Amino acid sequence: MPVSPRLTVKSQLSEEQLLAHIDLAALPQHIAIIMDGNGRWARRRHLPRIAGHRAGIRAVRQAIEACARLGVPYLTLYAFSVENWKRPHAEVELLMGLLREYLKKEIAELNRQRIRLGVIGRIGELPLPVQRDLQTALEKTRRNTGLRLTLALNYGSRAELLDAVRSLLEERAGNGSLPLDEETFRQHLYTRDLPDPDLVVRTSGEMRLSNFLLWQAAYAELWITNTLWPDFTQCDLFQAILDYQKRERRYGGLGMARS
Ligand code: IPE
Ligand code: IPE
Ligand code: MG
Repeated sequence: MPVSPRLTVKSQLSEEQLLAHIDLAALPQHIAIIMDGNGRWARRRHLPRIAGHRAGIRAVRQAIEACARLGVPYLTLYAFSVENWKRPHAEVELLMGLLREYLKKEIAELNRQRIRLGVIGRIGELPLPVQRDLQTALEKTRRNTGLRLTLALNYGSRAELLDAVRSLLEERAGNGSLPLDEETFRQHLYTRDLPDPDLVVRTSGEMRLSNFLLWQAAYAELWITNTLWPDFTQCDLFQAILDYQKRERRYGGLGMARS
């Protein structure tokens, strides 16, 4: 469906109007979001940073709901990077606590929406109680057949690439004829069960990937908004999808411009 250029102006259209303009036959299959700006959101309100992280949970619900409503099959959320351990101990502790709280509180809602939870990252390095709660949430949502929600936790793309090389070398030691091609490599990434993201969204205006899905996002469309993560709504995600649908993905070829 052709999309009018007026749609790029934020908040001119209601959620329903934006939704009506989305071409359901051309949805991104996998949306990955760098949820950034919680600290700035809190600072603007003279609140502690953790208040921003807490407010960010509402935005997580909005993003999930938007994907579930449209039928986007895969949503990946960057929740904690391997570099985020550099933050003050108190903030890290509070973030881990918030994650545990989310996992416990939200399981019923995830099940109601038939959402299947997954995780990527060095999960074995997370505090044990967090690992236990993750295991429970994964187990309790395992049979769901709706949206596949993946949380990137203690995730870093460089760490993932090194882990993939290690596991590939191990497998090759037992099977010398294992091919060294892109497909075999892909099978050793944490994301082996997920398609590459079509659309990577980042909130709060930073123009960088911050070590997120470097291999997988090779041909993803990037969409960056100045909106801070706690202020992110379904409208923002619908707008991102509308903008995505106006892009021409050429993958190095000539696309529609071929003469
Ligand atoms: C994103 O918000 C959440 C995490 C990285 C855990 P930030 O905490 O990075 O917020 P800013 O970038 O300081 O505003
Ligand atoms: C990226 O945000 C990591 C997550 C959203 C979990 P950061 O706030 O950590 O990224 P930088 O430090 O601005 O690059
Ligand atoms: Mg940040």
